[in-house]
Amino acid sequence: MNAASAFVQQYGPWALVTGASDGIGRAFAEELARRGVHVILVARRRAQLEQLAARLTQAHGVQCRVVPANLSNTEGVQQVLKCSKDHDVGLVVCAAGFGTSGLFLQNDLPTELDMLQVNCGALAALSWGMGHRLVQRGRGGLLLLSSVVAFQGVPRSAHYAASKAYVQTLAEGLREEWSGLGVQVLAVAPGPVRSGFAARSRMTMAQAEDPQVVARASLDALGRTGTVRPGFLAKLLGYSLALTPRWARIKIMGKVMAGMARRP
Ligand SMILES: NC(=O)c1ccc[n+]([C@@H]2O[C@H](COP(=O)([O-])OP(=O)(O)OC[C@H]3O[C@@H](n4cnc5c(N)ncnc54)[C@H](OP(=O)(O)O)[C@@H]3O)[C@@H](O)[C@H]2O)c1
Repeated sequence: MNAASAFVQQYGPWALVTGASDGIGRAFAEELARRGVHVILVARRRAQLEQLAARLTQAHGVQCRVVPANLSNTEGVQQVLKCSKDHDVGLVVCAAGFGTSGLFLQNDLPTELDMLQVNCGALAALSWGMGHRLVQRGRGGLLLLSSVVAFQGVPRSAHYAASKAYVQTLAEGLREEWSGLGVQVLAVAPGPVRSGFAARSRMTMAQAEDPQVVARASLDALGRTGTVRPGFLAKLLGYSLALTPRWARIKIMGKVMAGMARRP
């Protein structure tokens, strides 16, 4: 058996990817299709999902199901759970999300609460709903998109970093709870990545990783570790700060974010 068919055997035949219309989620969908896995594509922008589905089917011969859904409300989450019910899903990638930057008190509260729902609420509901199915079939994986900002407070992106700390901690706990049940859980903690993220979160990134690097390294790490820092930038940021005390990391990240969150 070659590596691709072993992957399908373990994590196929279907995968569900949220945030598939752009950036990291789209790269996951592309990499999964390349490995021969059929993909359920979730995001709000139907046209982008349909274009991607057509491209993946043509290039890799896989089936795709498009599920346009807004994960900032519970109906959107229920729709995803309902539409995926009849597919044998072995892998779930929760990549839908966005960030905010700037001083917390100067930001718009509805946007902050919307972010909390997409990054954490919807992710928890999908982890629970899909987690039941994965555990029942006794085989599969769950990937949750954390970040390098998850490991300490980050001034000028305080609420976004807090949402990613939630994701990181949830993944670490679920990994232990599901160990022995055949379901692998992986926290994916990238550094800056070239995607739609920077524009939506109003950050500027001097350097950024390709989303394809994140997807490939994360899928390769599944089942081998609990947290992956995919790509050079994530490793550089992660390991260079690893021995720094938490209070100092908060100061350093605050300085980094002061540059990234500067308004034009
Ligand atoms: N880029 C980075 O530097 C970076 C670094 C570390 C971690 N991350 C994390 O990686 C994940 C993916 O980010 P990205 O870089 O790929 O950003 P992106 O290019 O902006 O993509 C975000 C995706 O999430 C979807 N999404 C956003 N709001 C949604 C909603 N309300 N309902 C359904 N889907 C929604 C978007 O689709 P629609 O707009 O079509 O709905 C899009 O497909 C996020 O969780 C982010 O926090 C990113």
